[in-house]
Amino acid sequence: MNDSTPDTPESRFVNPPLKRHPTLQPLSREHFGGLVLVRRLREAADADEPARQATVGLLREAWEGELKGHFADEESLLGPHLKDSDMARLIEEHRALERHIKMADSAGCAPSAEWLRETATMLEEHIRWEERELFPAAERAGAEGLDKMAHEADRIERERPGARRRQDTR
Ligand SMILES: [Fe+2]
Ligand SMILES: [Fe+2]
Repeated sequence: MNDSTPDTPESRFVNPPLKRHPTLQPLSREHFGGLVLVRRLREAADADEPARQATVGLLREAWEGELKGHFADEESLLGPHLKDSDMARLIEEHRALERHIKMADSAGCAPSAEWLRETATMLEEHIRWEERELFPAAERAGAEGLDKMAHEADRIERERPGARRRQDTR
């Protein structure tokens, strides 16, 4: 973070704190994109029907282009270093978010304000839990294992633009 970057909760995810293990940094950067999406979902909840529909389009794109792969990478990278209860919660919340997002496809109409707010809350709480508890727990338990997975961080950055350092995405 430099002097021109405002110190807000979201800005801290743009270039994650140095204490984050390098293998997990691309995933932490994607959390910034997730929080931007949370804000858009909340804004859309107060908007008209076309705006709500457009926001669901953004959410679908995010699911296909980023969230789906992000969830799978978290499960494979963090999984070996998590206690069973944390792994169970990780998988349960990922599947719940997936089911919830796919509800928009089957509805066939613009999503309700309630659905948009609920989606925002689920996503935000999941990201906060990961950043505050899950990632630190995986780092404490599996620093050596994470060192050996550095190539996975390179792959994630190649595959998903939101995982790259901000100066690399221009
Ligand atoms: Fe996750
Ligand atoms: Fe995540």
